[in-house]
Amino acid sequence: MAKVTYIEDNGTEHTIDVPNGTTLMEAAVKQGIPGIDGDCGGACACATCMVYVPEEWLGKLPEVETMEETMLDFCERREDNSRLSCQLVASDELDGIRVKMPESQH
Ligand code: FES
Repeated sequence: MAKVTYIEDNGTEHTIDVPNGTTLMEAAVKQGIPGIDGDCGGACACATCMVYVPEEWLGKLPEVETMEETMLDFCERREDNSRLSCQLVASDELDGIRVKMPESQH
């Protein structure tokens, strides 16, 4: 299990327990956390689940695959540390991770 903190663009924090094997997008949508829509249900086809990941956590995440790269390219607010949260699967290793949502995803 991973304790994940989602930070809205206004600074409001939501910390929840995400079971291993669940994506950070699924968990956020289930808990009604604002800023993550997950419109495509995790198919890597909408980019409404984009989050910014702090530098120190980037190395613990899987590499960006081609599909994710393509979708991120469509995101106006893409930064170097942008990831699609539907591609990030919770594990003990991600316990304590903090991700920030972009302003555009209200
Ligand atoms: Fe659609 Fe992540 S939920 S790309």
